[in-house]
Amino acid sequence: MQSAVINKPVHDEHLFIITHQAYELWFKQVLHEVDSVRAMFMSPVLDETNTLLILNRLGRVTLILKLLGDQIDILETMTPLDFLEFRLQLSTASGFQSLQFRLLENKMGVLESSRVKYNQQVYSKVFSQPKQVQQLQESIEQPSLFQLVEKWLERTPGLTTKSFNFWELYKRSVNMWLHDMLQTPAEKETDPKAKEILFEEYKKQKESFDSILDEDKYNASVARGDRRISHQAFKGALLISLYHDQPRFNQPSKLLSLLMDIDSLCTKWRYNHVMMVQRMIGSKVGTGGSSGYQYLRSTVSDRYKVFLDLFNMSTYLIPRDYIPPLSRTLRRRLSMLTHEPTHHEIGKANGNDEDDDGEVSVDVAEEEFRSFGLATEN
Ligand code: HEM
Repeated sequence: MQSAVINKPVHDEHLFIITHQAYELWFKQVLHEVDSVRAMFMSPVLDETNTLLILNRLGRVTLILKLLGDQIDILETMTPLDFLEFRLQLSTASGFQSLQFRLLENKMGVLESSRVKYNQQVYSKVFSQPKQVQQLQESIEQPSLFQLVEKWLERTPGLTTKSFNFWELYKRSVNMWLHDMLQTPAEKETDPKAKEILFEEYKKQKESFDSILDEDKYNASVARGDRRISHQAFKGALLISLYHDQPRFNQPSKLLSLLMDIDSLCTKWRYNHVMMVQRMIGSKVGTGGSSGYQYLRSTVSDRYKVFLDLFNMSTYLIPRDYIPPLSRTLRRRLSMLTHEPTHHEIGKANGNDEDDDGEVSVDVAEEEFRSFGLATEN
């Protein structure tokens, strides 16, 4: 304890140190998990037998992050007056010096351009030891979890299937839904005011969907920094989200959900931390040289949500009744069946057989499934 060094030991400094050390230990474990998941994704072909392992490890990360959120409660048993007893002894020591926190941000995929600067300084300035600098550099240069997941989503089976033109069918369904939900009621409405409101809403919704349906518009928003994920990966994530009931999309869908959980938990940690900071030091400046509360408050934002595109995906979901039915071939590939379903079975499952596209064709390429992590020998 620094307070003991000057012969004025403060009881609660012990808790302060232990809490920080416990955080660093858990950060080390989280990095270990994230690194292993990244390694599994780095292969151009995702080994299907690894999917459960990936889900398990990301699930473990979410549990650790929950635990880390709760640790703040323990530190908050220290009163601001007790903290003040030893704060001066901390000198310029600060959370800014947590190398593992920065490594985690980079390995997940937080962009340099998204970071909030403090006093016009970059976060890496506090790390000067060659080993730290090298670790940071590697964490930036190596593919982040975001980039790896993006590449994997671009390979989502079903995006280039001959018998099932997902994007065209989805476009048609969106138009149909908007037509039924807003355009027709607007046309039928007799009250001019209500009619105007409905048409306005229709226009707004149409523009919103156009921003993803039109690839040029989508790419322009990526260029502006409003979106991050590639259009192909976006389509893959949407396909998985719309058809997550299909057995072989269950795990990919769970994976996307875990990535959002991680983002949510990190945001919650940032929020809990800044609340604690305000309670402990009010608006005093931080020991690391930032404005303290104000700086930290500005980091509780979407800028630090790596998988923000997945959160925003929900804007483009359409009701189940409007989701285009899968072609028979694709539906079979996404099922767990080990044999070609009989007409009787299909009829039983769907109540109809209208989208039957004939014999099971090879148009859903084996390679497409394999590279995504779904082996299709059966
Ligand atoms: C009494 C408790 C705490 C106070 C008053 C406090 C205060 C602060 C302040 C003022 C900052 C802004 C940087 C600066 O100017 O120093 C900061 C950043 C940070 N703190 Fe804490 N902190 C506390 C506990 C913790 C704990 C337990 C952790 C656990 C790891 C932690 C991790 C961090 C991290 C990682 C940052 C950098 C955040 C970023 O730049 O996005 N802090 N803290």
